[in-house]
Amino acid sequence: MRRLILSLVCLLFAATAPAHAKPGPFDGVWLFDDADPRPGVTMVEIATKGGVTAGTVTTQWYGPMPIARMTVEGDTATFTMRNLNDREHPTREWRAKLEDGKLRLLGQIWFSEIDELGRRGTKADAAQRAFRVTTLPPLGTLAPDGMARTPPMGWSSWNKFAEHIDDKTVRAMADALVSSGLRDAGYTYVNIDDGWQGTRGPDGRIRPNAKFPDMKALTDYVHAKGLKIGIYSSQGPRTCAGYEGSYGHVRQDAQTYADWGFDYLKYDLCSGEWFYDTADTVQRSYYEMGEALRATGRPILFSLCEYGRFDVGSWGRKVGGHLWRTTGDITDEWKVMTDIGFERNGNPAHAGPGGWNDPDMLEIGNGGMTHDEYVTHMTLWAISAAPLVMGHDLRETSPEALALLTNRAVIAIDQDARGIQGTRVRKDGDAEVWAKPLADGSVAVALFNRGTAAKRMLLAPADAGATRIGEAHDLWANKRVADPAADVTVPAHGAVLLRVRAG
Ligand code: GLA
Repeated sequence: MRRLILSLVCLLFAATAPAHAKPGPFDGVWLFDDADPRPGVTMVEIATKGGVTAGTVTTQWYGPMPIARMTVEGDTATFTMRNLNDREHPTREWRAKLEDGKLRLLGQIWFSEIDELGRRGTKADAAQRAFRVTTLPPLGTLAPDGMARTPPMGWSSWNKFAEHIDDKTVRAMADALVSSGLRDAGYTYVNIDDGWQGTRGPDGRIRPNAKFPDMKALTDYVHAKGLKIGIYSSQGPRTCAGYEGSYGHVRQDAQTYADWGFDYLKYDLCSGEWFYDTADTVQRSYYEMGEALRATGRPILFSLCEYGRFDVGSWGRKVGGHLWRTTGDITDEWKVMTDIGFERNGNPAHAGPGGWNDPDMLEIGNGGMTHDEYVTHMTLWAISAAPLVMGHDLRETSPEALALLTNRAVIAIDQDARGIQGTRVRKDGDAEVWAKPLADGSVAVALFNRGTAAKRMLLAPADAGATRIGEAHDLWANKRVADPAADVTVPAHGAVLLRVRAG
């Protein structure tokens, strides 16, 4: 009897089980060989368990991304994917369609449209393509290293050349820094931004692409000119422009940069935002590289680029950072430059010798703004103690742009040893007054006119924290202000920068 009951139960189970165990039409491994650059879909794995179909989409950029809420209707499956970095659309609906034994994947992530055709693969293929997830070290604190006592100054390839940068151009920029006098004005770093990376060797070591035949020879060349040289990477698998990132190779890359002779690293979150999307993981991912750079024993300036997330200024130094971006990217436009410079240039309490808020690189020389607008740009960056990293073709610097970039008195405001980030002291519509106390007891005062018509503005002693102005020097006009109590005409979209002494 007992046997009979057992057999009946087994029979009943067997009758219901196949419906659950039966693989769905989408189940299995799908291989994508011609992945789009972003997010670089390499594989889709789908399984039906207990009547629920789920799985992952593996990408080169973000690793394995879980599929949620999959529903199957005929030959089409609809599901939800997390959409990175888009507050308006934190998730997106994707579709998978069976087409002649292949899987067409249709979806969207951030700015990229996905329309890819995958073929069936095996479990062995899946194991071979599996993304290797790495774990972060616990957060530690790096002691100050004495570098970046004043905001870093130099040039970077991104604003002008984007990915179209090569060894020859970097050398030409080093030459131009010297011949133009920019080096002697303080611009010493020549920074290669995104686009230098090739593939990894069998030992995992990153190799430059064909545009950079010999990195050591390049750093030697730049060093011989009395300059320093910077490089760029991401803690993600891919950089923002889709090149090989440092994910899984952080220590090795830090050592490679040191071996090549680099003096500066810009480390850009990019595809790492999928893995590191909390204050804790972002900090640890920067700490991991900060610590790896220290471990090389070579002094390497560390530039954090995570667009100002998670109050970066409050922990940037702790992870070894010497400067940290406060925003997304600058463009060569008045609206973007002023929005960043006036409104999103970081918390001044976090800036000072050793660590600086970075409102992004300069656009002076790129031609998208008027001369007065570039005066505002330089004045605003200088009074904000911002890093001064140029981003134009140095071979084509106009005399006007050169005068803006090499004005020693203005640079001295930026580079002042006290390292205070200036702040807005007064605002009246389009007129703004900013002040920055300086090491010698004088105060830099900037009068900004954000309006479209020239404006008469008055320097008030209180702007400089004084009861009376002793003397004022106009740093752009390079002349003593005869009567500091008289009003000054500030051109539309322009600025006047004064060095003021109480009297
Ligand atoms: C991001 C950064 C830029 C630049 C590009 C390179 O957008 O914010 O400054 O480095 O990546 O791809």
